[in-house]
This record gives sequence, C-alpha cells and structure tokens, in this order.
Amino acid sequence: MIYFDSAATSFQKPASVAAAMWEALASMSSPGRGGYFAAARAADTAFQCRTELAELFGLKNPEQVVFTLNATHALNIAIKSLVPPGGKAVISGYEHNAVTRPLEALGAETAVAAAPLFEAEAVTAAFDRLVVPGVNAVICSHVSNVFGFIQPVEQIAAICQSRGVPFIIDASQSAGILPLDMGALGAAFVAMPGHKGLYGPQGTGVLLCREGVPARPLLEGGTGSQSIRQRMPDFLPDRLEAGTLNMPGIAGLLAGVRYVRRGGPDKILSYEKYLTQMAVQGLETLPGLRLFASPDLRGQTGVLSFTAEGMDVETIASELAERGIAVRAGIHCAPCAHRTAGTLDTGTVRISFSDFNTPEETARLVRAVYGVLGRAF
Ligand code: ALA
Repeated sequence: MIYFDSAATSFQKPASVAAAMWEALASMSSPGRGGYFAAARAADTAFQCRTELAELFGLKNPEQVVFTLNATHALNIAIKSLVPPGGKAVISGYEHNAVTRPLEALGAETAVAAAPLFEAEAVTAAFDRLVVPGVNAVICSHVSNVFGFIQPVEQIAAICQSRGVPFIIDASQSAGILPLDMGALGAAFVAMPGHKGLYGPQGTGVLLCREGVPARPLLEGGTGSQSIRQRMPDFLPDRLEAGTLNMPGIAGLLAGVRYVRRGGPDKILSYEKYLTQMAVQGLETLPGLRLFASPDLRGQTGVLSFTAEGMDVETIASELAERGIAVRAGIHCAPCAHRTAGTLDTGTVRISFSDFNTPEETARLVRAVYGVLGRAF
C-alpha cells in the first residue's frame, strides 16, 4: 500500500516508536502508583514526554501538558472548560466535527468566521468582526484537515487578547509541521493528536493548558494524588488525567516527538510541500480535475484535495485503493469546512503527505489518478 492519508493518522512511524512501545510494555507500570522501579520508570517517561512537548510548543511548565486519548478528547475538555451550556463561541469556517459537535451538544450560540479558501486576510477580518467581549471562546483550527489551508492563528490570537476572549487552537493538522509557540500566542488551550504529525501511536493526544485558565475535567477518578479527597485535584496535569495513563502510547509519542525535533518541523513541512507541489504539477493539467491548491502552495501544508467531473469522490478513492493507493474521500468529518469552500455536495478526494512518502510514490499516485479517470498519462 502507498499511504497518502496522514491527515487522518500517520501510518509509517519512525522505528524508534514501536521500539519505545515494546520497552514500555516490558518495563513500565503506572506513574504515581508506587515507588518501585516500574512505576518510577513510567513516571520519568511521562514527565520527559511532557517536558519535550512543552519545549516544542513554548510552554514553560511541563505540568501544563495533559495527555488525552486524541485531539477530540482534548478539544472537548478545552471547549467544555470555557463554554457553558447556551454560551457563545466564534469558530473559523474550517472546523472539524470535534469542535462543532461539542458546541452543538452545549447548545452554544456559534458564529462562523467564514472566509474564502486560502485567503488568510479575509479570515482575520471575519474574526475581527465577530469577536467581541462576552464571547466565551474563539476556536480555530490552525490548518484545515480537508484543504491544508493554514489559518492566521497569530492574528486571531492578537484579536482575542485585545478583546479579552480566550482562544482555543486545534493543532490537529499542524503539530509537528508548523511552529506553534503557545506562550507567545497566549492561547488558553492548544489541542493536538499524538498520532499525526508527531508520529506517535493512535490513542494518544495532548492538551496544552495556559497557567491559570480554569480546566474542567471530563472524567473523575483516581490520579494517584490527594487520594483522601473526593474532589479532583486542583493542579495539572492530575486534574484532567483520571485513570491509568496509556504508557506504551506515551513512550511511543515521546519517540515520535524526538523524531520531529531532530530534523525540525520546518524540514518536514518543506519536504511535504515539495511532494505536494509534485502532485499539483502532475495533476493540474488533467482535464476535468479541480485541484484545491493555493498559488505556489503559499499558506498550505502537505494536504491536497480535488474533485473530478464525471466521477464521484468515493468511486475515485476506491479505484485508487484497488491500485494500492490509500487516500480519504468524502466530507472528512468537517461539513463546516466543505460548506465554506462550496464542496459540501460533492466532498473531495484528499491526498495527505507525511515525512515518509517519497517522490516515486507521488509519481505513482499521479499516474494512478490519470488511470482511474480514464486518461492516458
Ligand atoms: N480528522 C481526521 C481526518 O481528517 C481523522 O481524516
């Protein structure tokens, strides 16, 4: 299989990730549950992972780094900490169901700062119009999972700060790929998966919490701390981490974070953009194909959507799968993004790259799309 679905989850991981997971299974129990070697080793690994994540994302205190099951879990904690039932939120026009469904469940009054695809200035202007004092939270995906559109989170953060409105960043598609300095942005929360651009295993996610922002647990239970009390501890990370941590996952995530930090997110981004540019150049002359690419891929990561005249997106994806190529087609759990871009009726075929794809694979993808659409390459 040639895998181009890294916006869903990165499939090829550094070899160090599986090795770290095996080692965790063989040597670690639960952090905070005992003073013996296996518990201490788990505690050290969890703390090291928090420390490296804090360094990567500009957080001073590793204890503000909370482990979650995935980005959806992290976003639910962030949103439900800030938006009360019936509260007010402003979101971008490119949000995922991980944002819109919790807001719907809260019965929130949600304003959408919709702007055309790849027009970052228009996104800023839309937030500028809608963010007013009294809004409970602004929520914005750093990068659209459907189109790879990089949204102007720095400008949106400045708007939020000037109006005293807390800002939640969904870094699901940017963590490990774009620089993100939580301290400089002053965001209240940043949510991310461990299993996409950070190359950790599925079942890992992270919530970065600004000091002093009230955090509401989604789960109550054992934390290994203040056990006599019947309320969750007030301090992080324990307040948000009830139950046994996923130590094999966290050990694997630490190995993934180290892989990203060794080369640096910039290097990964430029390599993914190089492959994306190859795909654009190969596909842009294909008759009947509509590619969603910004000029020179400015303001876009290694995520590329397309539609084609005469064939629905699901059929294209399944015919590519028959040729051994994995892409994702449809609405990508993001009807909000498709509504904004005008593709809600059709969905798109999405190609998404990782550091492990090669130019040869990209050339095969281009040839396969020509083949599926019945055109000679
Ligand atoms: N949100 C992930 C995707 O875009 C799962 O595929």
